[in-house]
Amino acid sequence: MSDTPDSAVRTYIDTHRAAFLDDLADWLRIPSVSGRPEHADDVRRSAEWLAGKLKETGFPTADVWETPGAPAVFAEWPSGDPAAPTVLVYGHHDVQPAALADGWHTEPFEPVVRDGRMYARGAADDKGQVFFHTLGVRAHLAATGRSAPAVNLKLLIEGEEESGSTHFRDLVERERDRLAADVVIVSDTGMWSGTTPTVCTGMRGIADCEIDLHGPDQDIHSGAFGGAVPNPATVAARLVAALHDADERVTIPGFYDNIAELTDAERELIAELPFDEAEWLRTAKSHAAFGEAGYSTLERVWARPTAEVNGIGGGYQGPGGKTIVPASAHLKLSFRLVSGQDPYEVEAAVKEWVAARVPEGIRHRVVFGAPTRPCLTPLDHPALQSVVRAMGRAFGQKIRFTREGGSGPAADLQDVLDAPVLFLGISVPSDGWHAPNEKVELDLLLKGVETTAYLWSDLAAALPRTPSGETPGSPA
Ligand code: BES
Ligand code: MN
Ligand code: MN
Repeated sequence: MSDTPDSAVRTYIDTHRAAFLDDLADWLRIPSVSGRPEHADDVRRSAEWLAGKLKETGFPTADVWETPGAPAVFAEWPSGDPAAPTVLVYGHHDVQPAALADGWHTEPFEPVVRDGRMYARGAADDKGQVFFHTLGVRAHLAATGRSAPAVNLKLLIEGEEESGSTHFRDLVERERDRLAADVVIVSDTGMWSGTTPTVCTGMRGIADCEIDLHGPDQDIHSGAFGGAVPNPATVAARLVAALHDADERVTIPGFYDNIAELTDAERELIAELPFDEAEWLRTAKSHAAFGEAGYSTLERVWARPTAEVNGIGGGYQGPGGKTIVPASAHLKLSFRLVSGQDPYEVEAAVKEWVAARVPEGIRHRVVFGAPTRPCLTPLDHPALQSVVRAMGRAFGQKIRFTREGGSGPAADLQDVLDAPVLFLGISVPSDGWHAPNEKVELDLLLKGVETTAYLWSDLAAALPRTPSGETPGSPA
């Protein structure tokens, strides 16, 4: 399934590598932090920059799509062949906040290339991984002599992934017809390592909440009143303490109902990876592994749901002591979800569980954010073999399989467009997502370019051709 000579692809990439990296650096200079209102203009500038660059790349359509929040970018390059399958690539152009003071060695929005890596916020998550698609499609055309891609190529690059994709599902529903695709390729995940290339086959979902607990109307004397009125900080601590049992299983009733257990075949694929727990701990910057009994570390992170305390506070935190019963306490919790769990059922179960544990005299409020659903690639889909073949050609190695513990709105695309989701990412765990000194490995970034240069021809041959007049995603 290859009409693309590998040497022609490599030569094309070598010739255009410098300009490609300069362009990426320009984009990374735009601090498109979607979580900070003061950066709203930068997020817009980032969208406009990308739309311009996609037009320059050759996409006949590259538009900024408005949402009630940050703008997304949609681009489309129809194949000349009306029966060719349609692929939708997903990524995001917004980034996490970053400041020099957080421990960056250089300015986070001043990209620097050192030792074959480009350092900048967004280098790996996700601008680098969106950007490899630009040179990738050009290399595909140059090497095949085509003037349009072998598949109908669509890109949807959203602008609020790092703040929870608040308006993403509505956008996908609104534009369902233009987004219709036979497969979705998500380029917002990573690989096992630079020496063990892998395809991700699933992401977890997430539901997060804040819990406020209010006791006395103000801080009160702990000698005069303590021991005779309920203390909201104690209630917060009891909630946290009750969240897991002795096997580190989440105690919320119904939490594990209907979840997709790993099959033996999936457990074997995970066990095939060269996992070194000491090295993993160094990357995690943690000092011990810990978690649900009966599961390996990778199984815990990729395939098991969790409850995490992200923040806990209340009462006096300043220097010295202060003998009070505090007026209030607060918790921030998040739950990573796996296939089979419904975020709204988890929300209802958590609310009920909290309500049953808050004593009389403490007022409480549990507020959930917009959830992200879990998403799995169907392992028997032919497009997965195309991704594996294309990566195999680029890397010259056997491609193995991973999942990711993180979350993204991929499942919304899967549900609304009724299309399978595949993942194509080249980031590695040491890239420092959301951390200071985020970087992307340039050789891997160019392997991403090379993979897509092969992928579109492979998919065009591997996927069923669309009978003319039929729109992908529409009911048969
Ligand atoms: N690209 C990540 C998701 C990810 C994380 C994939 C780790 C692979 C490994 C994405 O940009 C992200 O950070 N997602 C957030 C979602 C949240 C902000 C709603 C996450 O997972 O915490
Ligand atoms: Mn991302
Ligand atoms: Mn992220």
